[in-house]
Amino acid sequence: MSHFVIAVDGPAAAGKGTLSRRLAAALDLAYLDTGCLYRAVAARLLEAGGDPADAEQAAAIAAQLDPADLDRDDLRSEAAGAAASRVSAHPAVRTALLDFQHRFADNPPGGRAGAVLDGRDIGTVVCPDASVKLFVTASAEARARRRYEELLARGDKVIYAEVQAEMKARDARDRDRDVAPLRAADDAVTLDSTDLSAEAVFQAALEIIAEKT
Ligand code: C5P
Repeated sequence: MSHFVIAVDGPAAAGKGTLSRRLAAALDLAYLDTGCLYRAVAARLLEAGGDPADAEQAAAIAAQLDPADLDRDDLRSEAAGAAASRVSAHPAVRTALLDFQHRFADNPPGGRAGAVLDGRDIGTVVCPDASVKLFVTASAEARARRRYEELLARGDKVIYAEVQAEMKARDARDRDRDVAPLRAADDAVTLDSTDLSAEAVFQAALEIIAEKT
């Protein structure tokens, strides 16, 4: 059965998560933050003393990923994010996680009529037939600043220049990898959140959804 799916892609800290959660709540759709899948694989790998460059071990962990792993407290750390961007470059890891994402989109939890999925390749690879595709972006400076403030608010001891450098490296890895690189789908509508409040991005997205449906 085909469901109503909203695909939200974009680089780190562009505001995808905030927008996706609000859309899911407003439209009564299920929500999947697909970055959490890669973060959970990375967290389990680091915990086992593994190396994110080890495709085989990372793929084995991805194949056994438990939904409970998505609730771990340590997924939002910079270390998990950086390792996630490394494990996500392995084709076998991406394939292993594809099933999980398809099941979610095809059978949204809670009997909901559809789902919002956010990530890097939802509109291009995971759900190429999504009903609506949004590509949320913002300047590298604005995204680094947001991530820095988010980490500070969590009580992490971080240095702005380091957050900025890590984000730059992560952007490059996500854009330049061979499999499912970060890019807007041809039929995606781009929303630049650099100078917009979360509320303005949400309203703009609702208008796009109304036009498309
Ligand atoms: O979105 P988030 O920052 O939580 O994602 C962590 C990492 O997981 C990203 O840097 C990216 O490399 C990877 N990712 C991905 N494909 C997705 C979602 C996340 O490759 N659909």
